[in-house]
Amino acid sequence: MAEVSTPALRKVIKQFCSEVVLYSEMLASGAINAKAPHNEPLVQRHEFDTPFFYQIVGNNPAIMANAASILQDYGCDGIDINMACSAPHIVKAGCGAQLLVDIHHARDIVKSCRKAVKNLLTVKMRAGYHDIDMDYLKQFIVMLQDEGVNAITLHPRAAKWGFSRSAKWDVIDEIVKHAVIPIIGNGDITTPQLAMQRLHQTRCAGIMIGRVAVQQPWIFALCNALYNNNPLTVTIDHAALWIDVLTDIQTMLPQKLHKSRAHRFCFYFAKNCTFGHELFTAIRKLSSIDDMIATINNYYMRNHMEQYKHYGIP
Ligand SMILES: Cc1cc2nc3c(=O)[nH]c(=O)nc-3n(C[C@H](O)[C@H](O)[C@H](O)COP(=O)(O)O)c2cc1C
Repeated sequence: MAEVSTPALRKVIKQFCSEVVLYSEMLASGAINAKAPHNEPLVQRHEFDTPFFYQIVGNNPAIMANAASILQDYGCDGIDINMACSAPHIVKAGCGAQLLVDIHHARDIVKSCRKAVKNLLTVKMRAGYHDIDMDYLKQFIVMLQDEGVNAITLHPRAAKWGFSRSAKWDVIDEIVKHAVIPIIGNGDITTPQLAMQRLHQTRCAGIMIGRVAVQQPWIFALCNALYNNNPLTVTIDHAALWIDVLTDIQTMLPQKLHKSRAHRFCFYFAKNCTFGHELFTAIRKLSSIDDMIATINNYYMRNHMEQYKHYGIP
């Protein structure tokens, strides 16, 4: 997730659950191709990054393929092509979810990347651009399969919907039946129980969790426990986890990225707090991570009952 899947977040997720598959932030193929130095810290793979996919975004088949090839040389399990992002500057540039509109151009990109990528090539996609047209979606999925894509993560919303409507899991149901490659379902998973329910209902090959993974980086450990029928209780020191992630952002990323990445993490993690909205409003006014940490410490001093919480699978 752009500005969210920092090495700091990936590290804490891995500490809770070694089985989880991690993704890089969405990386601009043009910048990778140009070997832009500012991208280097985002591209760096860490020892905890395994299994690990780099996600690329772009519009030009040759540039996308070259970016995939460069990233592959860093060592990864696969390259994921973004056909999902609906951010205005991305779709305006003909990238992300905009690729869904032109199946021929999308095919050229996949074909070109397939030639460049020796290991897994996957696609993360919305179920449509303006709306969901099941016939077109099926045709698109068949195109991806025919071009040698190994798996697809499907976020069953149209790009134009943003988050305004709920994820349409019945779309995943239908696509799983239609596709011959693994389909990973994504969208609105908030609890391990819901993850299991979706997995069983759709028989999809896996579940991807976005926003709640930032709020509760331990959710994958709980999902894994539930999946394997292993009771598990985790006790979370929210203050310590929060400060660890912010400190890792500080040490693993260059200073110019500190504010944006720290704010993004705090936006989601503050949702665990009773007065999270006020707390985040205070944090977003701060630029330095040290000041954010002081504010967080102060919050838990005043609300010490919130510091430790138990989460479990009975
Ligand atoms: C802040 C933010 C950044 C995101 N960045 C990306 C991205 O870079 N690549 C991507 O494939 N999806 C991205 N997404 C979409 C998520 O991966 C996911 O598809 C979506 O949030 C639905 O899943 P969820 O309900 O589990 O969050 C982003 C979502 C958010 C909220």
